[in-house]
Amino acid sequence: MRSQLVVTILIVIFSINTDASSLPERLLRSTAELRNHTKISEFRLVNRMQLAKCFHPNPYLKISVTSNPTLSDEEYVTVNITGVWPPSITDWVAMISPSHTEYVLDHRYAPNFDLVTYLVFGCSVKTCFRIAALMYQQTGDLTSLPLLCHYPVKAQYVSNDPEYLKCSKSDCEVSIDGKCTVKTCGATLSFHVINIRTDIEFVMFTGGFKTPCMLSRSDQIKFANPNQPLYAHVASVDSTATSMRLTWVSGDRSPQQVQYGDAQTAHSSVSTFSQDDMCTSWLESPAVDFGWHDPGFIHSAIMTGLRPSTNYSYKYGSDSVGWSDEMKLRTPPASGSDELKFLAYGDMGKAPLDSSVEHYTQPGSVSVIKAMEEEVSSGGRVDSIFHIGDISYATGFMAEWDFFLHLISPLASQLPYMTAIGNHERDYIDSGSVYVTPDSGGECGVAYETYFPMPTAGKDKPWYSIEQGPVHFTVISTEHNWTQNSEQYEWMNKDMGAVNRTTTPWLIFTGHRPMYSSSPRIPILPSVDNQFVEAVEPLLLANKVDLVLFGHIHNYERTCAVYNKECRGMPTKDSNGVDTYQNSNYTAPVHAVIGIAGFELDSFTQNDNSWSLVRISKYGYLRVHATKSELHAEIQEMWMIVSESLNAWQIDVPNDVAAALRRGLLRPRSLDESGALLDETLEVALALR
Ligand SMILES: *[C@@H]1O[C@H](CO)[C@@H](O)[C@H](O)[C@H]1NC(C)=O
Ligand SMILES: *[C@@H]1O[C@H](CO)[C@@H](O)[C@H](O)[C@H]1NC(C)=O
Ligand SMILES: *[C@@H]1O[C@H](CO)[C@@H](O)[C@H](O)[C@H]1NC(C)=O
Ligand SMILES: *[C@@H]1O[C@H](CO)[C@@H](O)[C@H](O)[C@H]1NC(C)=O
Ligand SMILES: *[C@@H]1O[C@H](CO)[C@@H](O)[C@H](O)[C@H]1NC(C)=O
Ligand SMILES: *[C@@H]1O[C@H](CO)[C@@H](O)[C@H](O)[C@H]1NC(C)=O
Repeated sequence: MRSQLVVTILIVIFSINTDASSLPERLLRSTAELRNHTKISEFRLVNRMQLAKCFHPNPYLKISVTSNPTLSDEEYVTVNITGVWPPSITDWVAMISPSHTEYVLDHRYAPNFDLVTYLVFGCSVKTCFRIAALMYQQTGDLTSLPLLCHYPVKAQYVSNDPEYLKCSKSDCEVSIDGKCTVKTCGATLSFHVINIRTDIEFVMFTGGFKTPCMLSRSDQIKFANPNQPLYAHVASVDSTATSMRLTWVSGDRSPQQVQYGDAQTAHSSVSTFSQDDMCTSWLESPAVDFGWHDPGFIHSAIMTGLRPSTNYSYKYGSDSVGWSDEMKLRTPPASGSDELKFLAYGDMGKAPLDSSVEHYTQPGSVSVIKAMEEEVSSGGRVDSIFHIGDISYATGFMAEWDFFLHLISPLASQLPYMTAIGNHERDYIDSGSVYVTPDSGGECGVAYETYFPMPTAGKDKPWYSIEQGPVHFTVISTEHNWTQNSEQYEWMNKDMGAVNRTTTPWLIFTGHRPMYSSSPRIPILPSVDNQFVEAVEPLLLANKVDLVLFGHIHNYERTCAVYNKECRGMPTKDSNGVDTYQNSNYTAPVHAVIGIAGFELDSFTQNDNSWSLVRISKYGYLRVHATKSELHAEIQEMWMIVSESLNAWQIDVPNDVAAALRRGLLRPRSLDESGALLDETLEVALALR
């Protein structure tokens, strides 16, 4: 039935689109991508569902929020539900925030203001009506539209409170002669809330995510300071390590400052983006439609006059909006210095810290970020971090960027957080990306570039190089044209050709999509694009690249020294199991896939590729220690999934790792006597110059 519908749509579109020749392939690809690769949650589709009329009136129902009159920048909000009869397993509560700040107080569109009109029509009439007759294939859903124009940030089933269905929190509503004749049930839920600047409210529904109907809503609550400067992260701007960029978010558009070192000050330049900057097509993308949430203002300031490998304290903000806490950062080693220690991974994303579902959740992300934080705070020296694509997976649900920034900022505020762009930041139909899947949800790299300004060639040219210690990093965009004679190709060739191998003996090439993987996925969406390999692999060999790091595939895989699918050099194994490559006698690059930082893991379906030496499907990150003569890489592994039923997109399975652990769906590699989780370092490789 569903596939017939798809075919019908295809025919319609065919006849109205002039660029018909490439269209069926695009659609096929995007549908396959959405259904089988990105795994869209039921909750993600809530906006696409018809709103049903509630069956029973629930006259005693009340939903209230127990918090101070205003919200702090981070808190767990208790939501109290009372007066329910009967309690149902399909009851749920969403945290909702207006999508369009300009419409919040505009009641023109909802003259007979009630719950339904508020939620359905109280937002952008433009987007609601224009698309009302269309269907949203982009989310893999084919129901007609829309349900909520306001943005449901996250949701929980009320039965998350184990007392709810048992009705052990009950109230007597009517009693006759001292005997209770009407008894109702209640529940208490906890929501992790961070400062997303706009007011929030909690709305109770029944009917699950597929046939929702609205029962009741709480009062709106405000953040105490929507202008609070938050979510700072630092990045290198050049290879001297004497300047560092600090980027943060605030609701205020006036320039702010970062005060650092001995009373030095740098002023922020302020940017933002609007729905008009997002991409869309004949079917509107989440980013221009119900996924939109006002990003506030992104402030970015360059601290200059710094010394490499040095600790600084700083604070950011202004007297009018307030200041951050006193923060600490460490500059990386300058190009050509003796040593560098960095962490690298791809495909991290975020997961809720409560037991909510969000539009898109990456179950391993929280434990991986916590493990790295622990490594840094326990004095393990880390100079920088490279996150090589698929950054937040906000994919058009813009408030998820705030949650991602909140998750990484304890770490990213201390040391350079360098990024590469991935398909989930950039790809969209007719937007200039190489791949035409709707993976960015309409963001088209705009949100990514604004939140993570890197020393790139320019707007929508997100490739750059940076040197730290003895390593030259060439960071490319696999999502932008890399064919011979393209601007990026010419740049790669020139950049790698100019590396001084005395100053930086190690050349690391990195981007998002891999050249080698033993997880081929499905024929229509192969893991490896042979055209990319054909175009770019010769440059790696010609420029004697030592190590190639990619993500996109959610597991760890390391190759021999490989070119054109053939091993040109093999490592030797020492008695500790450490593989060593002799790069003083260079043969070819070694590739590693490291998309292991959060997204549900991929298994290996090919085990006979001669170039594949190590295959591990576990969460973790790569730790690299480079000196001028040795480059030592190891994988810090986290958990293994022991149950196939771990699916973060099913409502009946908790998303957060702790809960998954309790339910026996995840097992750490080792447990000490107290039940604490221990990490193990698994894979080790060493290259010598
Ligand atoms: C997608 O997944 C479904 C169910 O898991 C499967 O039946 C179908 O063949 C898959 N489609 C593709 C294109 O792999
Ligand atoms: C929350 O609900 C419980 C009953 O389930 C009630 O005892 C409690 O006082 C409520 N708290 C607030 C702050 O409303
Ligand atoms: C610099 O900070 C790191 C942690 O960020 C700490 O381990 C180190 O001791 C500090 N160095 C100095 C000189 O304070
Ligand atoms: C990529 O760049 C090449 C060389 O400039 C050009 O011929 C080709 O049309 C470009 N491809 C796309 C999809 O823009
Ligand atoms: C490379 O750097 C070294 C110092 O690190 C310098 O002596 C040499 O001249 C440089 N080579 C070139 C070609 O610039
Ligand atoms: C360098 O590598 C090649 C190919 O693996 C090998 O034949 C040769 O013996 C090596 N030379 C040295 C000095 O190790």
